[in-house]
Amino acid sequence: MRDAPSAAAPAGSGPLARPQGLPLVGHLPRWTSDPLALLQEGAARGRTGGRRAFEIRLWRPVTVGWSPAWNRAVLGDLATFRSRGSLSQISPYLSAGVVALDHPDHRARRAAMNPTFHRRAVTAAFADRFGRIVRAHLPTGDFDAGRWSSTVVRSMLTAAFFGDRMPPDELASFVAPLDQPMPGPLLRRPVRISRMNAALRQVFQAPQPGTLAELFAELPDGVEEARVAVAAAYDTTAHSLAFALWELADRPDLNDPARTAAVVKEALRLYPSGWIGSRVAATDTEVDGLLVPAGRMVLYSPYLTHRDPDLWPDPEAFRPERFDGPQPAWGYLPFAAGERTCLGAGLATLMLRTAVAGFADADLERVSGTGKVRGGLTLAPAGPLRLRRRRRFG
Ligand code: HEM
Repeated sequence: MRDAPSAAAPAGSGPLARPQGLPLVGHLPRWTSDPLALLQEGAARGRTGGRRAFEIRLWRPVTVGWSPAWNRAVLGDLATFRSRGSLSQISPYLSAGVVALDHPDHRARRAAMNPTFHRRAVTAAFADRFGRIVRAHLPTGDFDAGRWSSTVVRSMLTAAFFGDRMPPDELASFVAPLDQPMPGPLLRRPVRISRMNAALRQVFQAPQPGTLAELFAELPDGVEEARVAVAAAYDTTAHSLAFALWELADRPDLNDPARTAAVVKEALRLYPSGWIGSRVAATDTEVDGLLVPAGRMVLYSPYLTHRDPDLWPDPEAFRPERFDGPQPAWGYLPFAAGERTCLGAGLATLMLRTAVAGFADADLERVSGTGKVRGGLTLAPAGPLRLRRRRRFG
């Protein structure tokens, strides 16, 4: 790549490493076709140059980092690293509500929502209901882990958000574009969005007691907030579940409710559905010895952090046992971290644990698939993952 080195040079050393790009268009074609390969090459070059950061050029220059110090700065300082202008705003599914708010408005909105989404609150409210949903959906014989996960997650989300006040197909039709390959999730969807808005307004007139709709009905932009939350909840959780089942099928010894929490944690490490996150620097700042100029887009990558061999020995191996010990600080962030940490982390964890534990009374095995990943709006299986569930008797 022949661009002039940008202002985001490391303090006291040469320009940042860059992966292979093209004159004029920079890295945009590679970002569009295979962003994970681009990130991995950038990280390898960054390491060779002695830095856990590199630079790419999309439609604007971007600095990518993955070290704990980088994560801590980018995620911990909401006044400097802003969401306005970041990548999430490109998708109509994510460009509203709390996701689009910046400091200090963001803090007030989260304070209004956090108690309802707290891990203990969602567990008390939904654990039993989720258990019933999972048991009602358990497959027999061969099944597609991706499809099954999407269906069961939609059912759990409908129950938690709306109870029986929204027909199950309404959510399915709203989130369907999130299952399409890129650029499907990024295209404008005015009809689906206004249809969902109308359905939400209807639900909010008389929210079912004990559902999340009760909270959203009271929020100033409750319709946008609820719409963004269900979208942020859906494919992230569904893909994580598909990967967790895929790995569980390869490790029968872990198919035990006592190991479910570690299985889910490790699935979220190896396959973080929020594989990339972005911010824009509001002022000149220095991170981990690197000068980041005002206006620069910065990316953090749970995918790179979670696969960094300096943080996670043998990072490509699925080994839930690694969670029996401590985790590296700012080195495990499937739900990001800091004030902007995923609103639904507790809800997602409950859905994932309930669904994975649902398989404990059966033998699970792989039928076909590769477990390869694809980086779209979220990290997804690159192809179908076919599994077989066989009930154990006696
Ligand atoms: C395994 C499932 C999930 C994963 C891996 C995940 C991951 C993430 C990540 C990494 C972020 C931070 C994005 C950023 O700011 O850079 C985030 C934010 C968010 N997530 Fe999740 N998420 C999951 C499930 C959910 C669920 C179930 C909900 C339901 C409420 C949800 C709602 C949100 C919202 C509203 C935000 C924005 C928070 C803010 O900006 O303050 N997510 N999620």
